[in-house]
Amino acid sequence: MPIYPKWFARSKARTLILSILGVFASTLVLLFLHQFILPVVAWFLPQFEIPFYDLGVYGSYRTRNYVSYDLSSPRVSHLQWDNQCDDGFVLITPHGADVDNAGPMILDARGELVWMSEDFGPVWNLKAQKYKNETYLTFWAGEKQGSYGAGDYYMLDATYQVVYQIDAMGEDLHADLHELIITDEGTALISVYNVTQTDLTSIGRPVNGWINDSIFQEIDIATGELLFQWKASDHFRPDETYYVNPFAGYSKTNPFDLFHINSIQKDADGNYLVSARHNHAITTISHETGEPLWVLGGKRNEFKDLSDGAATAFSWQHDARWVSEAKGILTLFDNGYAGPIQPHTHSSQGLMLQLDISNRTTTLLNSYTSLQQLHTPSQGSMQVLHGDNGQEKVFIGWGHSAAYTEYHSNGTLLCETHFGASWLYYLGRVVSYRAQKTTDWIGAPTTSPAAAIRNGMVYVSWNGATEVVAWELQGVVESDENEGDENFRSLDITDRSGFESAFLLPLEDYTRFRVLALDRNGQTLGCSDVIESAQSEISIFDFFGMVGFLGALSLCVSFLCRRIRRLQRAGVAFGYRALDDKAVSDAA
Ligand SMILES: *[C@@H]1O[C@H](CO)[C@@H](O)[C@H](O)[C@H]1NC(C)=O
Ligand SMILES: *[C@@H]1O[C@H](CO)[C@@H](O)[C@H](O)[C@H]1NC(C)=O
Ligand SMILES: *[C@@H]1O[C@H](CO)[C@@H](O)[C@H](O)[C@H]1NC(C)=O
Ligand SMILES: *[C@@H]1O[C@H](CO)[C@@H](O)[C@H](O)[C@H]1NC(C)=O
Repeated sequence: MPIYPKWFARSKARTLILSILGVFASTLVLLFLHQFILPVVAWFLPQFEIPFYDLGVYGSYRTRNYVSYDLSSPRVSHLQWDNQCDDGFVLITPHGADVDNAGPMILDARGELVWMSEDFGPVWNLKAQKYKNETYLTFWAGEKQGSYGAGDYYMLDATYQVVYQIDAMGEDLHADLHELIITDEGTALISVYNVTQTDLTSIGRPVNGWINDSIFQEIDIATGELLFQWKASDHFRPDETYYVNPFAGYSKTNPFDLFHINSIQKDADGNYLVSARHNHAITTISHETGEPLWVLGGKRNEFKDLSDGAATAFSWQHDARWVSEAKGILTLFDNGYAGPIQPHTHSSQGLMLQLDISNRTTTLLNSYTSLQQLHTPSQGSMQVLHGDNGQEKVFIGWGHSAAYTEYHSNGTLLCETHFGASWLYYLGRVVSYRAQKTTDWIGAPTTSPAAAIRNGMVYVSWNGATEVVAWELQGVVESDENEGDENFRSLDITDRSGFESAFLLPLEDYTRFRVLALDRNGQTLGCSDVIESAQSEISIFDFFGMVGFLGALSLCVSFLCRRIRRLQRAGVAFGYRALDDKAVSDAA
């Protein structure tokens, strides 16, 4: 019996339908391989886990869930590890299409969650900064508009409460996401963008063309007083930009982003070090006149490059910082790349430069690239860490590429961590504007530890508590009606391991439990609510769940077997049919 009508045998429709089915089937096979086979392979052969992570086998943003905590955090991948990286905390702000719980986030040195919050939505630029001798978490949250933002900076104290909120001063001006630096004098330096008009004839645009002017402000945090304001359009010409955008500048809704300020730092003389991404330039602005005192890089470069161009060829850069003004050492994150239509393409890198300002010379001291020579089209940061032993390390956040890397300052790469699949970085499904490492943060949340029982285990975590080193499980026997402290007996103590730790639920007698958080001296920092084991309910649920699952599985298997048998029979008929066709056409 033929399984399809005769006209179908040689028609174009058949070829088309068969190729569509073929594509569909191979997609299914690949998907199956990707989703089920490769993870099993990686489970048996752990050496494949890192390449599979980067290929996106576990998705573009691999996460882990907790029993005692609702949000999911990244499951990071260490491409390289050295114990010299095992200190401090890493601050990131993951967000993007594949990030469910976007917000500020603290990870420990090994990438385990310490704190996260969804309360602010996606945020940018998380840092630990000192204000009046106290450390605050600072970040930007607000409305993102294209590549800039109109929002506020938040300052959270050690209990994770918002203590200060900083906005730009002036009508219709808002704090922009690129920069907040808190100075030793208790002032805030923030970037601000303002859409305004200026003469753009030098770049072939209208006389009263539209630009996003780059502004920065210095504001007294305590009083809100505006102490200093500067705008790029007063001091830099439009034709100093390298930015390419054929449509920008003609209308208010599509202004030309000329200068693109993205970092500010106040130096010892009270002048301001500024990075202008779209000018490929770093400059120092006089606090007296607002004039640039010098310009490094870009079309107005004043420095002789003693490293054959390697010290001044940076482009689309971020995060220019003085490491030592006295020694003239400056660092920056050189993106080297800004997407397909922007020229100047080399892999992104951290640069450490030596500047001789009076002689206007510069030398490249060191450069720092990632293991995979990442090209990061936007965002990124570079930080020099001063260790207790006087050793310096370098920490780089790859911005648009969800990764951070730590180096010995001599350039040796120590550790590289990915929190997204590197093969998918170009899609920007998960990004973090900057990544910062800090040894300053001590978090003491006002909440209590969270405990929950599942499958015969007690799970405990405490979002943001940095000082917990161990957990103590306590229980009350059923006969004890009173839940007074005196009736809780210590059942077990376990070291804190990562964000969430677990105890085996004791089987005998105990029905009500609580978990205490202990610091390194054995002192109690906090205590969870009392939780009750509901073992019978759990086991009934598990029993029915298991029966249901097995039933469904056997149904599926028997259905598949029948299908395969029928297909086999059809396959035989198909073979004969094809032969018949050939015989017919040969005869013709
Ligand atoms: C700043 O705090 C540290 C410790 O937290 C303390 O030793 C120091 O005296 C404080 N300095 C000032 C100026 O308050
Ligand atoms: C410039 O302004 C436009 C319109 O407000 C906005 O879409 C764009 O993202 C801005 N770019 C920057 C860098 O400010
Ligand atoms: C911001 O732009 C508006 C509109 O062009 C302009 O009137 C105002 O002076 C600008 N503000 C600053 C601080 O440059
Ligand atoms: C400028 O360079 C000269 C010679 O290279 C050097 O002797 C001098 O100290 C430099 N000036 C400064 C201020 O470093």
